Amino acid sequence: MRVFCSRFASPLLAALAYSQLAFGANTTNDEPVLLLSEDSDFHFQLLAGLAESVNGGADIGPILGAAKDLKAGSFESFHQRFYALANDTKAAAEDPENSYDPVNVRDTWFSAATYFRMADFYLHGNWSNPLIKSLWVEQTAAFDQGLAALPIPGERIRIPATNSNFTVEAIWYAASTSNGKNSKLPTLVIGNGYDAAQEDSYHTFVVPALARGWNCITYEGPGQPTVRRNQEKGFIPDWENVVTPVVDWLLSKQKHNVDKKQLVLLGNSMGGYLAARAAAFEPRFSALILDGGVWDIYSAYTGQLPDELLSLFESGNSAAFDETINNLLDGDDMPTSLRWGVEQGLWTFHTHSPFDFLTQTKQFRLKDVVEKIKMPVFVADAEFEGFFPGQAEQVKEALGDKATLHTFTGVAGYHCQIGAPQEMARTMFAWLGKTLSKTKTCQRSSHHYKC
Ligand SMILES: *[C@@H]1O[C@H](CO)[C@@H](O)[C@H](O)[C@H]1NC(C)=O
Ligand SMILES: *[C@@H]1O[C@H](CO)[C@@H](O)[C@H](O)[C@H]1NC(C)=O
Ligand SMILES: *[C@@H]1O[C@H](CO)[C@@H](O)[C@H](O)[C@H]1NC(C)=O
Ligand SMILES: *[C@@H]1O[C@H](CO)[C@@H](O)[C@H](O)[C@H]1NC(C)=O
Repeated sequence: MRVFCSRFASPLLAALAYSQLAFGANTTNDEPVLLLSEDSDFHFQLLAGLAESVNGGADIGPILGAAKDLKAGSFESFHQRFYALANDTKAAAEDPENSYDPVNVRDTWFSAATYFRMADFYLHGNWSNPLIKSLWVEQTAAFDQGLAALPIPGERIRIPATNSNFTVEAIWYAASTSNGKNSKLPTLVIGNGYDAAQEDSYHTFVVPALARGWNCITYEGPGQPTVRRNQEKGFIPDWENVVTPVVDWLLSKQKHNVDKKQLVLLGNSMGGYLAARAAAFEPRFSALILDGGVWDIYSAYTGQLPDELLSLFESGNSAAFDETINNLLDGDDMPTSLRWGVEQGLWTFHTHSPFDFLTQTKQFRLKDVVEKIKMPVFVADAEFEGFFPGQAEQVKEALGDKATLHTFTGVAGYHCQIGAPQEMARTMFAWLGKTLSKTKTCQRSSHHYKC
């Protein structure tokens, strides 16, 4: 029963909604693009889906059609609408009429895979929901059909993490070696953060990289989609234990044409912390890209809590803190960005306690290791950064001359440049071209680097 006249069932919830809890977009500025939903979190996810259409991962009309039908704040409407779209697209992919050429096959299956991932995105609040696994089985199977239809098929690989008890799940993409079989190519190692899948990375980073003559490997570690589901592992702060096995694997495979002097690590979103942490222990990287810069996850996630909730957390009364958050989650009025942020955090950090989740994030900070990062670093900031506001500047400051800070603005100004993949790719690859040719005396021909 509603006792307050406000949109929100409690003053605390209203305070949280307006404080954004660091999970949502920064709504103090005007939005830079046309809104796709009155729910600002749905808007962001829809734009992310649309952006994948640029590199063969979606179609435009179907996403805008879904956007039209969504009910703001209803996770169920988002799930149902994209599940239906995924099913329809899968049926089109399976239709023998459509599968006569590999371009049809990969476009249609890759799009079906994207829609299955979108159908899963808001479901992580109930760990018992069987759709969390079954939709992932669907997206993986669909994506694998696309992988197999690439000119050089992508290859799924599993790399045991030797110091730990998990296995890294990765996909290897070889670039074509038009310079002859033995030429060595630059290679990008790509990892996400809090939510995106390595299949998303194919459409965001791998397609632009392959087109520029780079090999790629995408990977997932604990807390991330496949490892969280198949190995029941939540996030770990010591991310070098995830990335170093990937580098070992790359460099031990001579057939992979990896130029070990042009090995670059890229961290996306919260992966800006994870990649920086790994790079501190991994001198074999020639350069590091942080999109964006993340200095301290605990301060990002708690920094905008209303004072009363922050005090409750800091008092150490975990039972009272958990009860307060759980009561908010049980209500109907929690804003999407906040609900999703908390549910996703609990699921990916593998805990049912909000207190434990936030306590775990204290270990995710660069301060302790930043001195050990020795390679050139590209640090992206974004005008409308809502998740880690101000942190790219802190990372740049700590790295000094080793870092280049680039602020994306205007229509490219969302977190991770969502909606502007071309501007993102051209800016990063321009920096890489300049940086690697400076440090490694490599020469650029039209498509490749030669060292
Ligand atoms: C999608 O297809 C599955 C069967 O493969 C079915 O169980 C499910 O209800 C369908 N969902 C929607 C929204 O059409
Ligand atoms: C969670 O999902 C399970 C399985 O679908 C269901 O039985 C249960 O009622 C759900 N719990 C909540 C709180 O919705
Ligand atoms: C292995 O996994 C368990 C359970 O996830 C964890 O408690 C333990 O710390 C892990 N051990 C190592 C060496 O990472
Ligand atoms: C939002 O952006 C404005 C302008 O860039 C900035 O002054 C403000 O601190 C930001 N707010 C949050 C909550 O990040």
